[in-house]
Amino acid sequence: KLKEDIMMKISAYLLLLGLALVSSAKLEGPPVPILKDGIGGRIVGGQDADEGEYPWQVSWRTCSGDGAYHSCGGSILSADWVLSAGHCCAGINAGEIAAGINDRYDNENAQTSTFTKFLHPDYSASNTNNDVCLLKLDMPLNLTSDKVSPIKLNRFDEWEDVKFTVTGWGTTSQGGSLPDSLKEVEVPFVKHFTCSLEYFPYSITDGMICAGERGKDSCQGDSGGPMVHFDQNGEPSLVGVVSWGIGCAQWLKPGVYAKVAHYAD
Ligand code: ARG
Repeated sequence: KLKEDIMMKISAYLLLLGLALVSSAKLEGPPVPILKDGIGGRIVGGQDADEGEYPWQVSWRTCSGDGAYHSCGGSILSADWVLSAGHCCAGINAGEIAAGINDRYDNENAQTSTFTKFLHPDYSASNTNNDVCLLKLDMPLNLTSDKVSPIKLNRFDEWEDVKFTVTGWGTTSQGGSLPDSLKEVEVPFVKHFTCSLEYFPYSITDGMICAGERGKDSCQGDSGGPMVHFDQNGEPSLVGVVSWGIGCAQWLKPGVYAKVAHYAD
């Protein structure tokens, strides 16, 4: 057992060394293409969600001139609180939250509200740590509709072999455009240690959790949106908030999420 442990440490070290060499040669710029051409993204490798299947999902629309455009996702925590990403709050001034919709242009069935942002006080734009932000809605949501309902925070932190579900209106491929209807995709959990190696020299902090595989990921425009776990009874809980990644759905580059369990008290 001990021998195994040492071997494991040695091979990890070698891997790290190798990765350091490769990445110092290939990486350019920060891994977090946020605003500018960044915000707006899609689910890669997924499929259409059913109407009302993810009633906690909201679209953060930025009002600009004549219309409102989807710019980030978010999750309903209660009638008047929504959780989104710190980089969304840092990058977008205002806008409105639209709940209860599957088609992001659907205004008829949307419950909308303006809001006040509460960005995590230690959000870091340089390494995207503490990428969470609370939105206090001016108009509380009507939770009697089965298409609008809160999700509970997940507090578990010992995942092994598990799949999570990510949803959003983000781009369906890297550099692609936003779909009209909500997408869903299942992504496998990636261990903290593995993810740290894969993203070296960028840091995967205690406030981050990784999930994804080649071809399946969140992408630009999914930011702020939910990554959930369904337990054996089908009970959903919010595990992550779409945060960042290098590209989308690339091999050995899983999506990085703000880890809800780290921030929930
Ligand atoms: N930062 C992106 C956004 O603002 C989300 C990127 C997620 N990337 C990924 N490979 N999972 O929408």
